[in-house]
Amino acid sequence: MSLEKKDEHDHKGWMESRDLTAVETRYLAILMWLDKRLRLVDYLELLEDMYYKVNLQMPKSHTEQYGLDNKFWYWYPLYALGSFSTLAYLVAATSGALLGFYYAPAAAGATGDPTVAYASVTSIMTDLNFGYMLRSIHRWAAQVMTAAVFLHMLRVYFTGAYKEPRELNWILGIVLISMTMVFGYSGYLLPWNQLSFWAGQIGVEMALSIPMAGEWVAQLLFGGFTLTQATLQRMYILHVFFLPFVVTMLIAIHIGIVWMQGIAEPH
Ligand code: HEM
Repeated sequence: MSLEKKDEHDHKGWMESRDLTAVETRYLAILMWLDKRLRLVDYLELLEDMYYKVNLQMPKSHTEQYGLDNKFWYWYPLYALGSFSTLAYLVAATSGALLGFYYAPAAAGATGDPTVAYASVTSIMTDLNFGYMLRSIHRWAAQVMTAAVFLHMLRVYFTGAYKEPRELNWILGIVLISMTMVFGYSGYLLPWNQLSFWAGQIGVEMALSIPMAGEWVAQLLFGGFTLTQATLQRMYILHVFFLPFVVTMLIAIHIGIVWMQGIAEPH
């Protein structure tokens, strides 16, 4: 008897040896048919294994740790802020990628005309189907991400989760929150409206106020001491090319380290 035939024979025997109803027999037969073709049971076992591994990473709440009989609720939900930051980042990245199809990073317009960048944003808001919604989603996601990252940092600080052996992830976090702010700032300049212009002006002044290296930094970041096409182009490349790559990679490393170390118990 071939191995497959033997399998089938064993299954039939197994089913007959139990007192199964007709519906149960039918259900099992379908399951076996599927399992033979798609190795369902193997994959389910793999999923189960992963589930337990992930579960091991979860911190115990105070109610569990001290056997408080689940009588009160602790600040457990605050552990979700890191994931919430990631989610906001994904929403911002997706909506931003879509905005990228319609936005043009050009500051120059004919004298008296609005700039090309500003006009492209206005056109997204007024001409593009769902454009107003798309831009709003992007702006909101960016702001929610900034707030969530900040609150996540507070959670990590107040639970003492930055302590040994998690120093590296704390430092990575500092880089991430700084990059999140640069993301926000560079994006704020892109519509090239009055708010952008004056925020840019303040940025140039801040750069210039740095002792010794001020002029060099202003030149590097803003392409000069006044706002020009060079400024917009730098902010654009930072916002849509440099930061997305670097931040995505750093978030992956950050979460990878959490995966390896497990989440800290409250100190
Ligand atoms: C883009 C920004 C960030 C993202 C997407 C992110 C994501 C995450 C996620 C998903 C976790 C798992 C635990 C949790 O969700 O609370 C985590 C843990 C951690 N994060 Fe962040 N994070 C970011 C920024 C920061 C910042 C600003 C800091 C601190 C300066 C930081 C320090 C840490 C540390 C030390 C842990 C380990 C905490 C523990 O083991 O309990 N992260 N992060």
